[in-house]
Amino acid sequence: MSDSAFPLLAPYIKSAKAKSLWLTDENLLDTNLQPNESVICITNRLDLHAHLQKQGWKAFFSDYDLSIIEDNSLERVVYRVSKEKLVTHHLINEAYRCLRVGGELIIAGDKNEGIKTYFSKAKKLLGMGETSKVDRDTWLAQLTKINESSEQRLDDKDYHQLRASCADENFEYQSKPGVFGWDKVDKGSAYLIENLDSFLMTLPEPPKSALDLGCGYGYLSLNLTHLDIPVTATDNNAAAIRACERNFDRYPIDGKVIPASCAQGISEKFDLIVCNPPFHAGFSIDGDLTDRFVKAAHDRLHKRGIACFVTNMHIPIERKAKKYFHQAECIMSNGNFKLVRLSHKT
Ligand SMILES: C[S@@+](CC[C@H](N)C(=O)[O-])C[C@H]1O[C@@H](n2cnc3c(N)ncnc32)[C@H](O)[C@@H]1O
Repeated sequence: MSDSAFPLLAPYIKSAKAKSLWLTDENLLDTNLQPNESVICITNRLDLHAHLQKQGWKAFFSDYDLSIIEDNSLERVVYRVSKEKLVTHHLINEAYRCLRVGGELIIAGDKNEGIKTYFSKAKKLLGMGETSKVDRDTWLAQLTKINESSEQRLDDKDYHQLRASCADENFEYQSKPGVFGWDKVDKGSAYLIENLDSFLMTLPEPPKSALDLGCGYGYLSLNLTHLDIPVTATDNNAAAIRACERNFDRYPIDGKVIPASCAQGISEKFDLIVCNPPFHAGFSIDGDLTDRFVKAAHDRLHKRGIACFVTNMHIPIERKAKKYFHQAECIMSNGNFKLVRLSHKT
């Protein structure tokens, strides 16, 4: 499914003349824009960062740490609003800080993503702006910074701060905005952990190593602590990596956290892989991403190991997995989620 908002921004990225910034997240991996020397890109997705660098863009990967940019120094900031409100608020605030007076912020997004509300908040902050409605659902907004100092910051809940965000009887999880389901325990992941023993008992011997594929803040990894084995956690998102590292520091887990897209660059094989794969890639439902997760599990799974996936009932994960695995079997479901066991031929 293609995004109707991003193409509205492309001309502003192409025509940017002085020092400008393109903030990009979600999976705009199909974008093919000629690099513009006047523009730097900042993204929180490792795969997007690699893609942009390959195309010749000056791109930075971080949890939207814009401290590398001086106050009042930019001519233009271009931003396709994010799915998560607090990320969008943080980036509009930072755009305001970085723009010079007279500089412009160009944003686009859909009505159901709150673009109209973002526009009116950004207008209070920057001082001036207008919108154009491109079609029934998609809006483009051009804002100009005329306020030199404004009190109208958007509430980003202290975006950069890692904090105790949720807990259960075993752990207090540290997380932050920008991480998948940052302030709660995901119900699917909890279901996997409740039934971990049903997976483990199908292994010929206790696992010696584990991989948490798409780790988020590290919920699944922390809940493997009792197995007393080395755990590798990996994710594509810079905020997730920060949060997971923090949780690994706080508990006695023999683990490492590796930024990677679908475990690319990790060469080790594991006896146990746990995974709650992403379903949405940005604004679209991306079947291909599920496929890439299954393939990554295949490539990283030891011959006698098992991969334990939890997904929504409607994801045809067993069918997708049959392409790579000898066995792909739903071992349990609760009406909302299913637990799927994947293994090689031994
Ligand atoms: C459904 S969440 C599960 C998070 C965590 N395991 C949990 O149980 O709370 C899926 C995770 O996959 C990550 N992800 C998305 N695309 C990815 C990619 N290409 N490579 C690695 N991780 C990715 C997301 O950032 C997110 O943290």
